[in-house]
Amino acid sequence: MKKLSIGSILKRKGALPLVMITAYDALFARLFSESADILLVGDSLNMSFGGNNDTLSATMDQMIYHTQAVCKGAPETFVITDMPFGTYTDEATALANAIRVYRETPADAVKIEGGTDKAHLVRHLTSNGIAVCGHIGLLPQAFRAEGGYKVKGKSEEEALSLIADAQAVERAGAFILVIEGVKADVATRVAKNVSIPVIGIGAGSGVDGQVLVFSDMLGLYEPFVPKFVKQYINGAKKVKEAANAYKIEVQNREFPDENYVY
Ligand code: KIV
Ligand code: NA
Repeated sequence: MKKLSIGSILKRKGALPLVMITAYDALFARLFSESADILLVGDSLNMSFGGNNDTLSATMDQMIYHTQAVCKGAPETFVITDMPFGTYTDEATALANAIRVYRETPADAVKIEGGTDKAHLVRHLTSNGIAVCGHIGLLPQAFRAEGGYKVKGKSEEEALSLIADAQAVERAGAFILVIEGVKADVATRVAKNVSIPVIGIGAGSGVDGQVLVFSDMLGLYEPFVPKFVKQYINGAKKVKEAANAYKIEVQNREFPDENYVY
């Protein structure tokens, strides 16, 4: 698949849904590049790969290391890098860190969490030549401040504030927007009220595309499976079965047999 341009991503608004998957390394990036329009190097890697309880301790250095790997594995795929917690606290900090992504990796865009309250940061990045993906609704980087993951859009007041968030991020120059953990009917309204593609996660099918964390989608992450996650393969079971088959053959001296020796 040829790499999408921002222009062709914008044209997918209200048309063929965009397919986004997270990737953290070259190995999986290469595999997903056959199906994904966009790969997201999400700070969720701090949980499934880093073994932490939330995304908050992810660093810029980690994101750059993983982005370099993903871009090497999928050089023909559009790549978005998450800006981790604490790396866009003000305009100068946000720009300095986003510039690191562009200087040190071939990533196509960065993602920052927040709506109306973060629009000035989106504007500062876009006016300095950085392509920005917004992220509204449930914000994983607010996990500790909000005391957990809270689904958004449960009242008309929240619905209107989400629409205002999306419009603020669009006006600030973002070319795409992730909406997470929002009631499906509200997410659909948000998508209808902006002209940039809105990519949902736990936000129903009335948006312009979907994103899933790859280790969730492949059924590899066992500690917690949110309601919105569809496991397209029981990866944990498959991997454990394979490791156990190897164990038994090693212990019985069945592996390696004559096919696998020099
Ligand atoms: O970090 C991540 O994987 C994300 C997606 C859940 C959108 O931000
Ligand atoms: Na993220």
